[in-house]
Amino acid sequence: MDRIAIEGGSPLFGDIPISGAKNSAIKLMAASLLTSEPIRLTNMPRLADTRLLGRLLARFGTQISESDGPDGQQTVLHTPEITSSFAPYDLVRQMRASFNVLGPLLARTGHAKVSLPGGCTIGARPVDLHLKALEALGAHIDMHEGYVFAQAPRGLKGAEIEFPFVSVGATEHALMAAVLAHGTTVMKNCACEPEIADLAECLNAMGAKVSGQGTTTIVVEGVTSLHGTDWSVICDRIEAGTYAVAGATAGGEVRLTRVRPELIAILLDKLVEAGCEVERGTDTVTIRRKDAKIRPVDLTTDVYPGFATDLQAQFMALMTLADGESVIRETIFENRFMHVPELGRLGADIRVTGNEARVHGVAELRGAQVMATDLRASACLVIAGLAARGETIVNRVYHLDRGFENLEGKLSACGANIKRLKGDTPIMEEE
Ligand code: EPU
Repeated sequence: MDRIAIEGGSPLFGDIPISGAKNSAIKLMAASLLTSEPIRLTNMPRLADTRLLGRLLARFGTQISESDGPDGQQTVLHTPEITSSFAPYDLVRQMRASFNVLGPLLARTGHAKVSLPGGCTIGARPVDLHLKALEALGAHIDMHEGYVFAQAPRGLKGAEIEFPFVSVGATEHALMAAVLAHGTTVMKNCACEPEIADLAECLNAMGAKVSGQGTTTIVVEGVTSLHGTDWSVICDRIEAGTYAVAGATAGGEVRLTRVRPELIAILLDKLVEAGCEVERGTDTVTIRRKDAKIRPVDLTTDVYPGFATDLQAQFMALMTLADGESVIRETIFENRFMHVPELGRLGADIRVTGNEARVHGVAELRGAQVMATDLRASACLVIAGLAARGETIVNRVYHLDRGFENLEGKLSACGANIKRLKGDTPIMEEE
């Protein structure tokens, strides 16, 4: 298994280009199943998760070609015919978002058999809301032996769906199923994450009739078929936020490029509260912290536009070095403090009670061996390692490879002393 070695203590100076968003790219790839024409996705990140989903889509008959085009990295997905609607446990287990192929397969062919994803390290993560939404759209759902069997032989029908609480995945899943349903679907209490608007707008470019994306009510007028399109994947706000926090923690001056600053507005406000200087351009953000001490800042994660749960671990790494105590509350997932004991190995002083972590800032972190437990927790450990004295080795780097493109390259270009130690090929675990 690969590991990452970091010799901490160097401030970061330089530009970091932000890639396309993982959490948009994988939904857009799934949406390509809704048409028999090619979809060309540009600004595509090359990640373990996009590769894994590509393997799953290939089983359904999708032809996939990756290249470097005039607009950068691109992937063309073309499914002239769905040759199988079966998503096996072995692939879905490795990436839970692949469960979202169920809706598009069902909408296009009238039936699908998809493995249930199971729990993961950050929480139980059931898919009950996804299934209820598909049932509301007229699907007949059965479950046997860990598989969902869904049928809608005469097609799905528009319906009113009110989500009992906000779910990114269920909103996206219902949206992908509703675009080819007969009649109008009104979805209430939807998630407003920018990746959902990206998906909705791509679907509209494919001929769908979706409105209200980015708000809590989305209306979909079903159409009989969709066509091919070109679509540029939205920038990865979580990757951007991660490097912003890395710059704040290590000190120095980092300029993020190819980014939309408004998508990380709350995080940037928190960095200013913590003592950083932040300059927002049109598609750049500069984060500067020279001699200023890090001030303690409290935060509570929330659905968009609140503070993203996917940035909670990284911000905690910054707070371990603050001049005082900060309180971090996690409200989205029930078990998203797995990084706390690992930060403790680097000398951090954090006490967790329920969903609340009290972080007492320490004067310095010291390098150690640590274990990554999930994607964002791994990023938190890298950030802490950049600021720690001595060498930090992050084990189980395959988590990072799921969601960060060329992390070592981007950080080394800013002066970080970071390198990958090659190991055996890992078997990916669920996340
Ligand atoms: N939930 C249910 N039932 C459902 C669906 C969700 O109880 O049917 C619960 C979840 O267990 C969780 C909460 O609702 O406690 C919110 O989950 P949500 O459905 O919003 O999350 P998701 O769609 O599974 C996506 C991202 C996550 C990100 C969350 C929240 C993707 C592939 N994943 O997950 O990203 O943390 O939204 O913003 O888009 C990551 O990238 O590292 C990651 C975990």
